[in-house]
Amino acid sequence: MSRILITSALPYINGIKHLGNLVGSQLPSDAYARFMRARGHEVMFICATDEHGTPAELAAAKAGVPVAEFCADMWQVQSDIADGFRLSFDYFGRSSSERNRVLTQHLAGKLADNGLIEEVSEKQVYSNADGRYLPDRYIEGTCPNCGFENARGDQCENCTKQLDPTDLIDPRSAISGSTDLEVRETKHLYLRQSAMRDKLDAWIDKQEGWPILTTSIAKKWLHDGDGLRDRGITRDLDWGVPVQYEGAPWSGMEGKVFYVWFDAPIEYIAATAEWADANGLDDAAWESWWRTDKGADDVHYVQFMGKDNVPFHTLSFPATMMGSGEDWKLVDFIKSYNWLTYEGGKFSTSQGRGIFMNQALEVMPSDYWRWWLLSNAPESSDSDFTWESFQGGVNKDLADVLGNFVSRVTKFCRSKFGEVVPEGGAYGEAEAAVTAEIAKRLKAYETHMEAIEIRKATAELRAIWVAGNEYLQAAAPWSVYKTDPDAAAAVVRFALNLIRLYAVLSAPFIPDATEKMLAAMNVTDTSWPDDLDAALSALAAGHAFEVPEVSFAKITDDRRVELEEQFAGQG
Ligand code: 2FM
Ligand code: ZN
Repeated sequence: MSRILITSALPYINGIKHLGNLVGSQLPSDAYARFMRARGHEVMFICATDEHGTPAELAAAKAGVPVAEFCADMWQVQSDIADGFRLSFDYFGRSSSERNRVLTQHLAGKLADNGLIEEVSEKQVYSNADGRYLPDRYIEGTCPNCGFENARGDQCENCTKQLDPTDLIDPRSAISGSTDLEVRETKHLYLRQSAMRDKLDAWIDKQEGWPILTTSIAKKWLHDGDGLRDRGITRDLDWGVPVQYEGAPWSGMEGKVFYVWFDAPIEYIAATAEWADANGLDDAAWESWWRTDKGADDVHYVQFMGKDNVPFHTLSFPATMMGSGEDWKLVDFIKSYNWLTYEGGKFSTSQGRGIFMNQALEVMPSDYWRWWLLSNAPESSDSDFTWESFQGGVNKDLADVLGNFVSRVTKFCRSKFGEVVPEGGAYGEAEAAVTAEIAKRLKAYETHMEAIEIRKATAELRAIWVAGNEYLQAAAPWSVYKTDPDAAAAVVRFALNLIRLYAVLSAPFIPDATEKMLAAMNVTDTSWPDDLDAALSALAAGHAFEVPEVSFAKITDDRRVELEEQFAGQG
Protein backbone atom coordinates (compact mmCIF):
# COMPACT_ATOMS: atom_id res chain seq x y z
CA MET A 1 0.00 0.00 0.00
CA SER A 2 1.28 3.46 -0.87
CA ARG A 3 0.35 6.92 0.27
CA ILE A 4 -0.78 9.06 -2.63
CA LEU A 5 -1.27 12.79 -2.41
CA ILE A 6 -3.39 14.22 -5.21
CA THR A 7 -4.14 17.87 -5.87
CA SER A 8 -6.38 19.38 -8.49
CA ALA A 9 -5.69 22.92 -9.74
CA LEU A 10 -7.74 25.33 -7.69
CA PRO A 11 -10.67 26.88 -9.56
CA TYR A 12 -10.87 30.67 -9.41
CA ILE A 13 -13.66 31.88 -7.20
CA ASN A 14 -14.96 34.50 -9.63
CA GLY A 15 -17.58 32.38 -11.38
CA ILE A 16 -18.92 28.95 -12.13
CA LYS A 17 -16.47 26.90 -14.18
CA HIS A 18 -17.20 25.35 -17.55
CA LEU A 19 -16.72 21.76 -18.64
CA GLY A 20 -13.29 22.55 -20.08
CA ASN A 21 -12.08 23.48 -16.60
CA LEU A 22 -13.68 20.38 -15.13
CA VAL A 23 -12.03 17.94 -17.53
CA GLY A 24 -8.65 19.68 -17.22
CA SER A 25 -8.13 18.91 -13.55
CA GLN A 26 -10.95 18.11 -11.12
CA LEU A 27 -12.53 15.25 -13.01
CA PRO A 28 -9.47 13.22 -14.04
CA SER A 29 -7.97 13.72 -10.59
CA ASP A 30 -11.18 12.36 -9.09
CA ALA A 31 -11.14 9.25 -11.30
CA TYR A 32 -7.51 8.71 -10.36
CA ALA A 33 -8.21 9.20 -6.64
CA ARG A 34 -11.12 6.77 -6.76
CA PHE A 35 -9.05 4.20 -8.65
CA MET A 36 -6.17 4.45 -6.21
CA ARG A 37 -8.49 4.13 -3.21
CA ALA A 38 -10.11 1.10 -4.83
CA ARG A 39 -6.67 -0.47 -5.19
CA GLY A 40 -6.22 -0.15 -1.45
CA HIS A 41 -3.87 2.85 -1.34
CA GLU A 42 -4.12 5.61 1.23
CA VAL A 43 -5.19 8.70 -0.69
CA MET A 44 -5.29 12.38 0.26
CA PHE A 45 -7.22 14.26 -2.43
CA ILE A 46 -7.20 18.04 -2.08
CA CYS A 47 -8.81 20.94 -3.88
CA ALA A 48 -9.92 24.45 -2.88
CA THR A 49 -11.15 27.70 -4.32
CA ASP A 50 -8.53 30.20 -5.51
CA GLU A 51 -9.97 33.34 -3.97
CA HIS A 52 -7.48 36.18 -4.25
CA GLY A 53 -6.49 38.58 -6.99
CA THR A 54 -8.21 41.13 -9.15
CA PRO A 55 -10.74 38.74 -10.79
CA ALA A 56 -12.29 38.04 -7.37
CA GLU A 57 -12.40 41.73 -6.42
CA LEU A 58 -13.88 42.74 -9.76
CA ALA A 59 -16.50 39.96 -9.75
CA ALA A 60 -17.55 40.93 -6.23
CA ALA A 61 -17.81 44.58 -7.25
CA LYS A 62 -19.92 43.59 -10.23
CA ALA A 63 -22.20 41.54 -7.97
CA GLY A 64 -22.35 44.50 -5.57
CA VAL A 65 -21.29 42.55 -2.49
CA PRO A 66 -18.22 42.77 -0.25
CA VAL A 67 -15.50 40.52 -1.59
CA ALA A 68 -15.33 38.32 1.53
CA GLU A 69 -19.05 37.66 1.33
CA PHE A 70 -18.88 37.05 -2.41
CA CYS A 71 -16.13 34.47 -1.91
CA ALA A 72 -17.95 32.70 0.91
CA ASP A 73 -21.10 32.42 -1.24
CA MET A 74 -19.22 31.28 -4.32
CA TRP A 75 -17.27 28.72 -2.34
CA GLN A 76 -20.59 27.16 -1.31
CA VAL A 77 -21.84 27.23 -4.90
CA GLN A 78 -18.67 25.58 -6.20
CA SER A 79 -18.65 23.06 -3.39
CA ASP A 80 -22.26 22.04 -4.14
CA ILE A 81 -21.47 21.66 -7.82
CA ALA A 82 -18.42 19.54 -6.95
CA ASP A 83 -20.72 17.31 -4.91
CA GLY A 84 -23.09 17.15 -7.88
CA PHE A 85 -20.27 15.80 -10.03
CA ARG A 86 -19.35 13.43 -7.19
CA LEU A 87 -15.85 14.85 -6.84
CA SER A 88 -14.49 12.92 -3.90
CA PHE A 89 -12.13 15.50 -2.39
CA ASP A 90 -10.94 14.66 1.08
CA TYR A 91 -11.09 18.38 1.58
CA PHE A 92 -12.27 21.34 -0.47
CA GLY A 93 -10.61 24.33 1.11
CA ARG A 94 -10.34 28.07 0.55
CA SER A 95 -7.18 29.98 -0.27
CA SER A 96 -8.46 32.82 1.91
CA SER A 97 -8.19 30.60 4.99
CA GLU A 98 -6.25 31.53 8.09
CA ARG A 99 -4.04 28.49 7.50
CA ASN A 100 -3.04 29.84 4.11
CA ARG A 101 -2.38 33.33 5.43
CA VAL A 102 0.00 31.99 8.07
CA LEU A 103 1.77 29.57 5.76
CA THR A 104 2.13 32.08 2.91
CA GLN A 105 3.67 34.66 5.23
CA HIS A 106 5.88 32.02 6.78
CA LEU A 107 7.23 30.88 3.41
CA ALA A 108 7.81 34.44 2.20
CA GLY A 109 9.80 35.05 5.39
CA LYS A 110 11.90 31.93 4.81
CA LEU A 111 12.61 32.99 1.22
CA ALA A 112 13.77 36.36 2.54
CA ASP A 113 16.01 34.66 5.12
CA ASN A 114 17.62 32.79 2.25
CA GLY A 115 18.25 35.92 0.21
CA LEU A 116 15.64 35.08 -2.41
CA ILE A 117 13.42 38.13 -1.96
CA GLU A 118 14.37 41.50 -3.33
CA GLU A 119 12.67 44.82 -2.65
CA VAL A 120 12.17 46.61 -5.95
CA SER A 121 10.93 50.09 -6.57
CA GLU A 122 8.40 49.88 -9.38
CA LYS A 123 6.33 52.19 -11.49
CA GLN A 124 2.62 51.55 -10.91
CA VAL A 125 -0.44 53.28 -12.27
CA TYR A 126 -2.32 55.25 -9.63
CA SER A 127 -5.87 56.49 -10.19
CA ASN A 128 -6.62 59.83 -8.57
CA ALA A 129 -10.37 59.40 -9.03
CA ASP A 130 -10.38 55.97 -7.37
CA GLY A 131 -7.74 56.86 -4.78
CA ARG A 132 -5.83 53.63 -5.39
CA TYR A 133 -3.30 51.79 -7.53
CA LEU A 134 -4.62 49.90 -10.52
CA PRO A 135 -2.90 46.53 -10.84
CA ASP A 136 -3.53 43.93 -13.56
CA ARG A 137 -7.13 43.87 -14.63
CA TYR A 138 -8.04 47.10 -12.88
CA ILE A 139 -6.70 48.97 -15.82
CA GLU A 140 -7.74 48.82 -19.48
CA GLY A 141 -6.52 50.48 -22.63
CA THR A 142 -5.24 49.95 -26.14
CA CYS A 143 -2.83 47.07 -26.75
CA PRO A 144 0.58 48.37 -27.92
CA ASN A 145 1.02 45.15 -29.89
CA CYS A 146 -2.20 44.80 -31.91
CA GLY A 147 -4.22 47.94 -31.28
CA PHE A 148 -7.11 46.13 -29.55
CA GLU A 149 -8.94 48.81 -27.55
CA ASN A 150 -10.05 46.74 -24.58
CA ALA A 151 -6.77 45.14 -23.54
CA ARG A 152 -6.35 44.54 -19.83
CA GLY A 153 -3.36 45.56 -17.74
CA ASP A 154 -2.04 42.02 -17.46
CA GLN A 155 -2.80 40.62 -20.89
CA CYS A 156 -4.37 41.46 -24.24
CA GLU A 157 -7.25 39.06 -24.84
CA ASN A 158 -7.03 39.68 -28.57
CA CYS A 159 -3.39 38.86 -29.30
CA THR A 160 -2.65 37.14 -25.90
CA LYS A 161 0.49 39.26 -25.32
CA GLN A 162 1.35 39.53 -21.65
CA LEU A 163 1.39 43.18 -20.64
CA ASP A 164 2.24 45.43 -17.77
CA PRO A 165 -0.33 48.10 -16.91
CA THR A 166 2.18 50.80 -17.89
CA ASP A 167 2.40 49.36 -21.43
CA LEU A 168 -1.18 50.29 -22.31
CA ILE A 169 -1.96 53.17 -24.67
CA ASP A 170 -4.75 55.55 -23.52
CA PRO A 171 -5.17 53.72 -20.22
CA ARG A 172 -8.33 54.07 -18.13
CA SER A 173 -9.51 52.70 -14.81
CA ALA A 174 -11.62 49.56 -15.10
CA ILE A 175 -13.41 50.64 -11.93
CA SER A 176 -14.49 54.18 -12.78
CA GLY A 177 -13.39 54.61 -16.39
CA SER A 178 -11.34 57.60 -15.23
CA THR A 179 -8.33 58.61 -17.31
CA ASP A 180 -6.96 60.81 -14.54
CA LEU A 181 -4.09 58.43 -13.93
CA GLU A 182 -0.49 58.91 -12.99
CA VAL A 183 2.52 56.70 -12.66
CA ARG A 184 3.91 56.52 -9.14
CA GLU A 185 6.90 54.73 -7.70
CA THR A 186 6.10 52.08 -5.14
CA LYS A 187 8.02 49.27 -3.52
CA HIS A 188 7.28 45.60 -4.25
CA LEU A 189 8.77 42.25 -3.35
CA TYR A 190 10.32 40.15 -6.09
CA LEU A 191 11.02 36.45 -5.93
CA ARG A 192 14.53 35.85 -7.27
CA GLN A 193 13.58 32.91 -9.42
CA SER A 194 16.57 33.44 -11.69
CA ALA A 195 18.86 32.54 -8.78
CA MET A 196 17.15 29.16 -8.69
CA ARG A 197 17.44 28.35 -12.39
CA ASP A 198 20.11 25.65 -12.11
CA LYS A 199 18.39 23.96 -9.22
CA LEU A 200 15.06 23.93 -11.06
CA ASP A 201 16.67 22.74 -14.26
CA ALA A 202 18.33 19.84 -12.48
CA TRP A 203 15.11 18.98 -10.68
CA ILE A 204 13.11 18.87 -13.92
CA ASP A 205 15.82 16.83 -15.66
CA LYS A 206 15.63 14.29 -12.88
CA GLN A 207 11.92 13.62 -13.41
CA GLU A 208 11.17 10.42 -15.23
CA GLY A 209 8.17 9.71 -17.37
CA TRP A 210 6.51 13.10 -17.07
CA PRO A 211 4.09 13.84 -19.90
CA ILE A 212 5.81 15.61 -22.79
CA LEU A 213 3.21 18.36 -22.53
CA THR A 214 4.41 19.11 -19.00
CA THR A 215 8.17 18.99 -19.55
CA SER A 216 8.12 20.85 -22.86
CA ILE A 217 6.28 23.78 -21.31
CA ALA A 218 8.57 23.77 -18.27
CA LYS A 219 11.71 23.65 -20.39
CA LYS A 220 10.50 26.38 -22.68
CA TRP A 221 9.92 28.75 -19.78
CA LEU A 222 13.16 27.79 -18.15
CA HIS A 223 15.29 28.56 -21.20
CA ASP A 224 13.32 31.21 -23.06
CA GLY A 225 15.01 34.17 -21.39
CA ASP A 226 11.78 35.76 -20.28
CA GLY A 227 10.46 32.71 -18.51
CA LEU A 228 12.41 32.62 -15.32
CA ARG A 229 12.96 36.29 -14.74
CA ASP A 230 12.47 37.55 -11.22
CA ARG A 231 8.80 38.27 -10.63
CA GLY A 232 6.84 40.60 -8.45
CA ILE A 233 4.99 38.58 -5.84
CA THR A 234 3.09 41.48 -4.28
CA ARG A 235 0.22 43.67 -5.47
CA ASP A 236 -1.50 46.88 -4.42
CA LEU A 237 -4.81 45.32 -3.46
CA ASP A 238 -6.91 45.00 -0.32
CA TRP A 239 -8.04 41.43 -0.78
CA GLY A 240 -5.37 38.81 -0.25
CA VAL A 241 -2.67 37.75 2.18
CA PRO A 242 -1.19 40.92 3.74
CA VAL A 243 2.49 41.44 3.00
CA GLN A 244 3.12 43.50 6.13
CA TYR A 245 2.68 41.22 9.14
CA GLU A 246 4.10 41.08 12.60
CA GLY A 247 7.72 40.05 12.48
CA ALA A 248 7.98 40.55 8.71
CA PRO A 249 11.55 41.12 7.52
CA TRP A 250 10.47 44.23 5.55
CA SER A 251 8.68 47.44 6.31
CA GLY A 252 6.50 49.94 4.49
CA MET A 253 4.42 47.28 2.76
CA GLU A 254 1.09 48.31 4.23
CA GLY A 255 -1.82 48.06 1.83
CA LYS A 256 -0.17 45.35 -0.22
CA VAL A 257 -1.02 41.69 -0.53
CA PHE A 258 0.79 38.72 -2.06
CA TYR A 259 0.14 38.03 -5.72
CA VAL A 260 -2.57 35.42 -6.19
CA TRP A 261 -0.22 32.99 -7.94
CA PHE A 262 2.14 33.14 -4.96
CA ASP A 263 -0.41 32.04 -2.38
CA ALA A 264 -2.65 29.78 -4.51
CA PRO A 265 -0.40 26.70 -4.73
CA ILE A 266 0.56 27.12 -1.09
CA GLU A 267 -3.11 26.49 -0.44
CA TYR A 268 -2.61 22.85 -1.50
CA ILE A 269 -0.68 22.49 1.73
CA ALA A 270 -2.87 24.83 3.77
CA ALA A 271 -6.02 22.99 2.66
CA THR A 272 -4.53 19.77 4.00
CA ALA A 273 -4.02 21.60 7.30
CA GLU A 274 -7.65 22.78 7.06
CA TRP A 275 -8.59 19.12 6.57
CA ALA A 276 -6.75 18.20 9.78
CA ASP A 277 -8.44 21.05 11.67
CA ALA A 278 -11.87 20.05 10.38
CA ASN A 279 -11.28 16.49 11.55
CA GLY A 280 -9.93 17.42 14.97
CA LEU A 281 -6.43 16.16 14.10
CA ASP A 282 -3.15 17.72 15.08
CA ASP A 283 -0.45 19.19 12.82
CA ALA A 284 1.34 15.86 12.56
CA ALA A 285 -1.62 14.55 10.52
CA TRP A 286 -1.20 17.00 7.64
CA GLU A 287 2.56 17.31 7.98
CA SER A 288 2.90 13.58 7.36
CA TRP A 289 1.69 14.37 3.81
CA TRP A 290 3.82 17.42 3.20
CA ARG A 291 6.98 17.42 5.30
CA THR A 292 9.62 14.95 4.24
CA ASP A 293 11.17 15.31 7.71
CA LYS A 294 7.84 14.31 9.24
CA GLY A 295 6.81 11.22 7.32
CA ALA A 296 6.10 12.47 3.80
CA ASP A 297 9.21 10.94 2.25
CA ASP A 298 7.19 7.89 1.22
CA VAL A 299 4.33 9.94 -0.28
CA HIS A 300 3.77 9.92 -4.04
CA TYR A 301 2.49 13.37 -5.00
CA VAL A 302 0.54 13.93 -8.23
CA GLN A 303 -0.81 17.26 -9.50
CA PHE A 304 -3.51 17.74 -12.14
CA MET A 305 -3.96 20.92 -14.17
CA GLY A 306 -4.68 22.55 -17.52
CA LYS A 307 -1.57 23.32 -19.58
CA ASP A 308 -1.73 27.06 -18.86
CA ASN A 309 -0.98 26.28 -15.21
CA VAL A 310 2.17 24.27 -15.90
CA PRO A 311 4.75 27.10 -15.61
CA PHE A 312 3.53 28.01 -12.15
CA HIS A 313 3.72 24.40 -10.96
CA THR A 314 7.03 23.47 -12.58
CA LEU A 315 8.87 26.70 -11.80
CA SER A 316 7.44 29.27 -9.38
CA PHE A 317 5.86 26.93 -6.84
CA PRO A 318 8.87 24.58 -6.68
CA ALA A 319 11.08 27.70 -6.42
CA THR A 320 9.07 28.74 -3.35
CA MET A 321 9.26 25.27 -1.82
CA MET A 322 12.96 24.69 -2.50
CA GLY A 323 13.89 28.27 -1.75
CA SER A 324 12.36 28.06 1.72
CA GLY A 325 15.15 25.68 2.67
CA GLU A 326 12.62 23.57 4.55
CA ASP A 327 11.77 19.93 3.92
CA TRP A 328 8.65 20.26 1.82
CA LYS A 329 7.36 17.44 -0.32
CA LEU A 330 7.81 18.30 -4.01
CA VAL A 331 5.54 17.01 -6.72
CA ASP A 332 6.43 13.62 -8.24
CA PHE A 333 4.21 13.73 -11.32
CA ILE A 334 2.45 16.59 -13.08
CA LYS A 335 -0.45 15.58 -15.28
CA SER A 336 -1.46 18.39 -17.60
CA TYR A 337 -4.31 18.68 -20.06
CA ASN A 338 -4.89 20.32 -23.41
CA TRP A 339 -8.08 22.23 -24.17
CA LEU A 340 -11.61 21.08 -24.60
CA THR A 341 -13.36 23.02 -27.34
CA TYR A 342 -17.08 23.48 -27.73
CA GLU A 343 -18.64 22.66 -31.10
CA GLY A 344 -15.40 23.60 -32.84
CA GLY A 345 -14.83 26.89 -30.97
CA LYS A 346 -13.44 28.02 -27.65
CA PHE A 347 -15.21 27.65 -24.32
CA SER A 348 -15.26 31.17 -22.96
CA THR A 349 -16.16 32.26 -19.46
CA SER A 350 -16.19 35.93 -20.37
CA GLN A 351 -18.44 35.38 -23.38
CA GLY A 352 -20.58 32.70 -21.73
CA ARG A 353 -19.85 30.27 -24.56
CA GLY A 354 -20.13 26.54 -23.93
CA ILE A 355 -21.59 24.63 -21.00
CA PHE A 356 -21.08 25.64 -17.40
CA MET A 357 -20.94 23.07 -14.62
CA ASN A 358 -24.24 24.04 -13.04
CA GLN A 359 -26.04 23.99 -16.40
CA ALA A 360 -24.58 20.59 -17.21
CA LEU A 361 -26.06 19.07 -14.07
CA GLU A 362 -29.43 20.65 -14.78
CA VAL A 363 -29.79 18.89 -18.12
CA MET A 364 -28.06 15.50 -17.70
CA PRO A 365 -26.95 13.20 -14.87
CA SER A 366 -23.43 13.55 -13.59
CA ASP A 367 -22.41 10.06 -14.78
CA TYR A 368 -23.16 10.96 -18.39
CA TRP A 369 -20.83 13.95 -18.19
CA ARG A 370 -18.18 12.03 -16.33
CA TRP A 371 -18.18 9.25 -18.88
CA TRP A 372 -18.11 11.43 -21.96
CA LEU A 373 -15.54 13.86 -20.58
CA LEU A 374 -13.19 11.21 -19.26
CA SER A 375 -13.45 8.98 -22.33
CA ASN A 376 -12.69 12.06 -24.46
CA ALA A 377 -10.22 13.74 -22.12
CA PRO A 378 -7.87 16.09 -24.03
CA GLU A 379 -4.76 14.11 -23.14
CA SER A 380 -2.73 13.87 -26.32
CA SER A 381 -4.38 16.80 -28.12
CA ASP A 382 -7.38 19.09 -27.79
CA SER A 383 -10.83 17.43 -27.79
CA ASP A 384 -14.01 18.86 -29.19
CA PHE A 385 -17.30 18.60 -27.36
CA THR A 386 -20.29 18.25 -29.65
CA TRP A 387 -23.77 17.28 -28.59
CA GLU A 388 -23.72 14.61 -31.25
CA SER A 389 -20.60 12.99 -29.86
CA PHE A 390 -22.02 13.27 -26.34
CA GLN A 391 -25.25 11.59 -27.43
CA GLY A 392 -23.23 8.85 -29.17
CA GLY A 393 -21.04 8.18 -26.13
CA VAL A 394 -23.97 7.98 -23.75
CA ASN A 395 -26.26 5.94 -26.00
CA LYS A 396 -23.68 3.51 -27.30
CA ASP A 397 -21.33 2.96 -24.40
CA LEU A 398 -23.54 3.45 -21.39
CA ALA A 399 -27.01 2.48 -22.62
CA ASP A 400 -26.38 -0.09 -25.39
CA VAL A 401 -23.32 -1.77 -23.95
CA LEU A 402 -23.26 -1.55 -20.16
CA GLY A 403 -26.90 -0.75 -19.36
CA ASN A 404 -28.28 -3.29 -21.77
CA PHE A 405 -26.05 -6.04 -20.42
CA VAL A 406 -27.16 -5.42 -16.85
CA SER A 407 -30.80 -5.27 -17.72
CA ARG A 408 -30.85 -8.31 -20.02
CA VAL A 409 -29.05 -10.56 -17.57
CA THR A 410 -31.00 -9.59 -14.48
CA LYS A 411 -34.39 -9.64 -16.20
CA PHE A 412 -33.76 -12.98 -17.85
CA CYS A 413 -32.65 -14.43 -14.53
CA ARG A 414 -35.74 -13.10 -12.79
CA SER A 415 -38.04 -14.59 -15.40
CA LYS A 416 -36.49 -18.08 -15.30
CA PHE A 417 -34.85 -18.50 -11.92
CA GLY A 418 -36.15 -15.65 -9.77
CA GLU A 419 -34.11 -12.84 -8.23
CA VAL A 420 -31.43 -15.12 -6.93
CA VAL A 421 -28.15 -16.36 -8.43
CA PRO A 422 -28.92 -19.78 -9.94
CA GLU A 423 -26.85 -22.88 -9.35
CA GLY A 424 -26.21 -24.51 -12.73
CA GLY A 425 -23.08 -26.39 -13.65
CA ALA A 426 -19.44 -25.42 -13.58
CA TYR A 427 -18.06 -22.70 -15.85
CA GLY A 428 -16.76 -24.05 -19.16
CA GLU A 429 -14.61 -23.03 -22.10
CA ALA A 430 -16.61 -19.98 -23.09
CA GLU A 431 -16.29 -18.56 -19.58
CA ALA A 432 -12.56 -19.33 -19.53
CA ALA A 433 -12.11 -17.55 -22.86
CA VAL A 434 -13.91 -14.38 -21.85
CA THR A 435 -12.15 -14.40 -18.48
CA ALA A 436 -8.81 -14.50 -20.29
CA GLU A 437 -9.86 -11.64 -22.55
CA ILE A 438 -10.99 -9.59 -19.55
CA ALA A 439 -7.79 -10.40 -17.64
CA LYS A 440 -5.73 -9.01 -20.50
CA ARG A 441 -7.88 -5.87 -20.77
CA LEU A 442 -7.92 -5.39 -17.03
CA LYS A 443 -4.13 -5.41 -16.91
CA ALA A 444 -4.07 -2.73 -19.61
CA TYR A 445 -6.75 -0.72 -17.81
CA GLU A 446 -4.72 -0.79 -14.59
CA THR A 447 -1.52 0.12 -16.38
CA HIS A 448 -3.16 3.11 -18.06
CA MET A 449 -4.70 4.33 -14.82
CA GLU A 450 -1.37 4.05 -13.03
CA ALA A 451 0.22 6.08 -15.83
CA ILE A 452 -2.76 8.48 -15.70
CA GLU A 453 -3.71 7.83 -19.31
CA ILE A 454 -7.36 8.19 -18.45
CA ARG A 455 -8.71 8.13 -21.95
CA LYS A 456 -6.90 4.92 -22.81
CA ALA A 457 -8.14 3.38 -19.57
CA THR A 458 -11.76 4.13 -20.50
CA ALA A 459 -11.22 2.42 -23.86
CA GLU A 460 -10.12 -0.75 -22.07
CA LEU A 461 -13.03 -0.55 -19.67
CA ARG A 462 -15.43 -0.20 -22.58
CA ALA A 463 -13.79 -3.25 -24.21
CA ILE A 464 -14.34 -5.19 -20.97
CA TRP A 465 -18.06 -4.34 -21.13
CA VAL A 466 -18.18 -5.31 -24.80
CA ALA A 467 -16.53 -8.67 -24.04
CA GLY A 468 -19.36 -9.51 -21.65
CA ASN A 469 -21.98 -8.60 -24.23
CA GLU A 470 -20.33 -10.74 -26.86
CA TYR A 471 -20.07 -13.62 -24.45
CA LEU A 472 -23.75 -13.33 -23.58
CA GLN A 473 -24.78 -13.08 -27.20
CA ALA A 474 -22.81 -16.20 -28.10
CA ALA A 475 -23.83 -18.17 -25.01
CA ALA A 476 -27.52 -17.28 -25.65
CA PRO A 477 -28.95 -18.58 -22.37
CA TRP A 478 -32.47 -17.76 -23.62
CA SER A 479 -32.12 -20.48 -26.31
CA VAL A 480 -30.05 -22.90 -24.26
CA TYR A 481 -32.62 -22.75 -21.49
CA LYS A 482 -35.17 -24.56 -23.65
CA THR A 483 -33.07 -27.71 -23.85
CA ASP A 484 -30.58 -27.40 -20.98
CA PRO A 485 -31.73 -25.16 -18.09
CA ASP A 486 -28.70 -26.11 -16.04
CA ALA A 487 -26.28 -24.88 -18.66
CA ALA A 488 -28.32 -21.69 -19.02
CA ALA A 489 -28.15 -21.22 -15.23
CA ALA A 490 -24.34 -21.38 -15.30
CA VAL A 491 -24.23 -18.71 -17.99
CA VAL A 492 -26.52 -16.49 -15.92
CA ARG A 493 -24.48 -17.07 -12.79
CA PHE A 494 -21.34 -16.02 -14.64
CA ALA A 495 -23.06 -13.00 -16.18
CA LEU A 496 -24.40 -11.84 -12.82
CA ASN A 497 -20.84 -12.02 -11.52
CA LEU A 498 -19.76 -9.93 -14.48
CA ILE A 499 -22.23 -7.24 -13.38
CA ARG A 500 -20.59 -7.11 -9.99
CA LEU A 501 -17.17 -6.97 -11.61
CA TYR A 502 -18.27 -4.18 -13.96
CA ALA A 503 -19.60 -2.14 -11.07
CA VAL A 504 -16.30 -2.40 -9.20
CA LEU A 505 -14.19 -1.57 -12.27
CA SER A 506 -16.41 1.26 -13.49
CA ALA A 507 -16.82 3.06 -10.15
CA PRO A 508 -13.98 5.56 -10.76
CA PHE A 509 -15.85 6.83 -13.83
CA ILE A 510 -19.57 6.44 -13.18
CA PRO A 511 -19.95 6.25 -9.41
CA ASP A 512 -23.72 6.81 -9.24
CA ALA A 513 -24.63 4.05 -11.66
CA THR A 514 -22.19 1.61 -10.13
CA GLU A 515 -23.51 2.32 -6.65
CA LYS A 516 -27.00 1.43 -7.86
CA MET A 517 -25.69 -1.69 -9.55
CA LEU A 518 -23.94 -2.83 -6.39
CA ALA A 519 -26.97 -2.09 -4.25
CA ALA A 520 -29.26 -4.02 -6.59
CA MET A 521 -26.82 -6.90 -6.72
CA ASN A 522 -26.78 -6.81 -2.94
CA VAL A 523 -22.99 -6.65 -2.87
CA THR A 524 -20.95 -5.57 0.11
CA ASP A 525 -17.56 -6.86 -0.97
CA THR A 526 -16.40 -4.31 -3.52
CA SER A 527 -12.73 -5.25 -3.37
CA TRP A 528 -10.60 -4.94 -6.49
CA PRO A 529 -10.42 -8.15 -8.58
CA ASP A 530 -6.77 -8.97 -7.95
CA ASP A 531 -7.81 -12.58 -8.44
CA LEU A 532 -10.14 -12.44 -11.41
CA ASP A 533 -11.34 -16.06 -11.21
CA ALA A 534 -12.29 -15.60 -7.59
CA ALA A 535 -14.00 -12.30 -8.40
CA LEU A 536 -16.11 -14.02 -11.04
CA SER A 537 -17.35 -16.54 -8.51
CA ALA A 538 -17.95 -14.06 -5.72
CA LEU A 539 -21.73 -14.21 -6.10
CA ALA A 540 -22.54 -17.81 -5.28
CA ALA A 541 -25.72 -19.73 -6.03
CA GLY A 542 -28.51 -18.64 -3.72
CA HIS A 543 -27.32 -15.01 -3.45
CA ALA A 544 -30.40 -12.76 -3.69
CA PHE A 545 -30.51 -9.60 -5.81
CA GLU A 546 -33.02 -7.21 -7.34
CA VAL A 547 -33.35 -6.19 -10.96
CA PRO A 548 -31.90 -2.66 -11.00
CA GLU A 549 -33.90 0.21 -12.41
CA VAL A 550 -32.94 1.34 -15.90
CA SER A 551 -29.72 3.16 -15.23
CA PHE A 552 -29.02 4.90 -18.53
CA ALA A 553 -31.90 6.48 -20.44
CA LYS A 554 -30.95 7.18 -24.04
CA ILE A 555 -30.74 10.72 -25.40
CA THR A 556 -33.19 11.02 -28.26
CA ASP A 557 -32.43 13.00 -31.41
CA ASP A 558 -35.15 15.49 -30.49
CA ARG A 559 -33.63 16.07 -27.10
CA ARG A 560 -30.19 16.49 -28.64
CA VAL A 561 -31.46 19.13 -31.05
CA GLU A 562 -33.21 20.89 -28.17
CA LEU A 563 -29.96 21.00 -26.20
CA GLU A 564 -27.98 22.18 -29.20
CA GLU A 565 -30.38 25.07 -29.56
CA GLN A 566 -30.55 25.84 -25.86
CA PHE A 567 -26.79 26.18 -25.66
CA ALA A 568 -26.23 27.80 -29.05
CA GLY A 569 -27.95 30.89 -27.64
CA GLN A 570 -24.98 31.41 -25.37
CA GLY A 571 -22.43 31.83 -28.13
O1 2FM B 1 -6.00 28.74 -13.71
C1 2FM B 1 -6.68 28.69 -12.69
O2 2FM B 1 -7.87 28.43 -12.71
C2 2FM B 1 -6.00 28.93 -11.35
N1 2FM B 1 -6.98 29.36 -10.40
C3 2FM B 1 -5.31 27.67 -10.92
C4 2FM B 1 -4.60 27.75 -9.63
S1 2FM B 1 -3.84 26.28 -9.30
C5 2FM B 1 -3.03 26.45 -7.87
F1 2FM B 1 -1.87 26.79 -7.97
F2 2FM B 1 -3.66 26.96 -6.97
ZN1 ZN C 1 -3.09 42.82 -28.45
